[in-house]
Amino acid sequence: MSTPGYQSPAVTVASVLPSDLDSAVLIVPVITSENDEATVLANPFLDAEATGEIEVALKTLGAKGSTEQLTRVLVPSLPVASVLAVGLGKDRDEWPADVIRRAAGVAARSLNGTETVVTTLSELDVAAAVEGLILGAYRFNDFRSAKTAPKERGLTALTVLSTADDAETAAARGVDVATAVATARDLVNTPPSHLYPGEFAKRAKALGKSAGLEVEVLGKKELEDAGYGGIVGVGKGSSRGPRLVRLTYRCGKKNAKKVALVGKGITFDTGGISIKPAANMHHMTSDMGGAAAVIATIVLAARQQLPVDVIATVPMAENMPSSTAQRPGDVLTQYGGTTIEVLNTDAEGRLILADAIVRACEDNPDYLIDTATLTGAQLVALGVRTPGVMGTDEFRDRVAKLSQEVGENAWPMPLPEELKDDLKSTVADLANVSGARNAGMSVAGVYLREFVADGVQWAHLDVAGPAYNTGGPWGYTGKGGTGVPTLTMFAVLEDIAKNG
Ligand code: BES
Ligand code: MN
Ligand code: ZN
Repeated sequence: MSTPGYQSPAVTVASVLPSDLDSAVLIVPVITSENDEATVLANPFLDAEATGEIEVALKTLGAKGSTEQLTRVLVPSLPVASVLAVGLGKDRDEWPADVIRRAAGVAARSLNGTETVVTTLSELDVAAAVEGLILGAYRFNDFRSAKTAPKERGLTALTVLSTADDAETAAARGVDVATAVATARDLVNTPPSHLYPGEFAKRAKALGKSAGLEVEVLGKKELEDAGYGGIVGVGKGSSRGPRLVRLTYRCGKKNAKKVALVGKGITFDTGGISIKPAANMHHMTSDMGGAAAVIATIVLAARQQLPVDVIATVPMAENMPSSTAQRPGDVLTQYGGTTIEVLNTDAEGRLILADAIVRACEDNPDYLIDTATLTGAQLVALGVRTPGVMGTDEFRDRVAKLSQEVGENAWPMPLPEELKDDLKSTVADLANVSGARNAGMSVAGVYLREFVADGVQWAHLDVAGPAYNTGGPWGYTGKGGTGVPTLTMFAVLEDIAKNG
């Protein structure tokens, strides 16, 4: 059986510039010198002659080495077809991984895919260079016919130059991380015609099995019988029934911390009977971005054999209007018994997440991270690239800090007590929306908090904007699925594995 999910290009580590890369492009980082000229960042792979030639060519073209500036030059003395200089801005003593990742991404995005790539960026940070190059080169062409599909795409092969002792391990890590992010992107980019709950569960199962995870999939009947009223209620309007996927990674270490991951898997969100306006409704193909990132992250944790136990609980449903759909005013019972008055069928994410959170807490995790494309209010408050993170104070701040370190930049947001009053219902325990327009992102967080068991350290990441790029490409991020918040969740798992 072939490996499911994204297949990365082959990556080779070398400690000298190979002499047989005639058709390759050499990606070289340059910095801005005191006199505002592009200077090749000193490295052990290029001699003074080659360096001089590159700098003369860059000067002729007026290159400054400013951040992410790209300049392609010919350097006859080097055994490559061309050199692509990428600016890193002013010199620094240390190079943050995300600066390298973004520069590599910008460089890779400018390639047409016919080139093989060799780079010295990796001398600064092997893993970050590999991640940035693979993710920058990422394209999604599964649904293009020969009429519009490019013949070549992405990187065909990548050689990273490094003198570091751990270069091989770092490169392998970079490949694993990039593969996880790209796998999440592929799932988000797969259209709702082709990715519906049953198919999504099938893919999650295949990915889980290939990484040696335990897999459990509950179908519609099983969800009804077990009392998952939120998932069943949201899925009722669709002919394509809901699922709950559970993936378990056991590290085998005694006393390992246990982390629950929960991700919103709405394969398409029409809003249901509380239907959304037509403009941009197609963006709701991304409404399973949280689920995609959770699946990618647990698979990555297993591949990297992190010393932490991880259990993913992923609810999947399609939110459709029909004669079988739930209505505004209906009452449902969440898994665990809380009754909910569904005042707005478009606030469906919290309904499926609440069931999943209660189920996840039955495993007695030390930590629980849930993530979802949950509210338009996230975009209003923080914009398209900044996830909001809510939860128990300490863990929320820890997740935000780690997210900023990996460049996904989640920002802590409060869950004010008084917002709970807005979720009072006249007929049930809770309503799924508040009557007010204020603090929509926090209201959703306050709703979810009701379902998190006492004593569990919890973080909720709202990635409504960040999971899906509807604007222009930037850094290593193209249009469409971004893979956010895979890097954040993986960083948190690594941090818990290390520090408890
Ligand atoms: N999936 C949407 C949130 C969303 C909006 C994601 C924009 C990505 C981009 C979610 O299910 C939703 O519809 N939320 C409502 C909640 C409201 C009814 C309380 C919203 O934000 O309008
Ligand atoms: Mn909705
Ligand atoms: Zn939604």
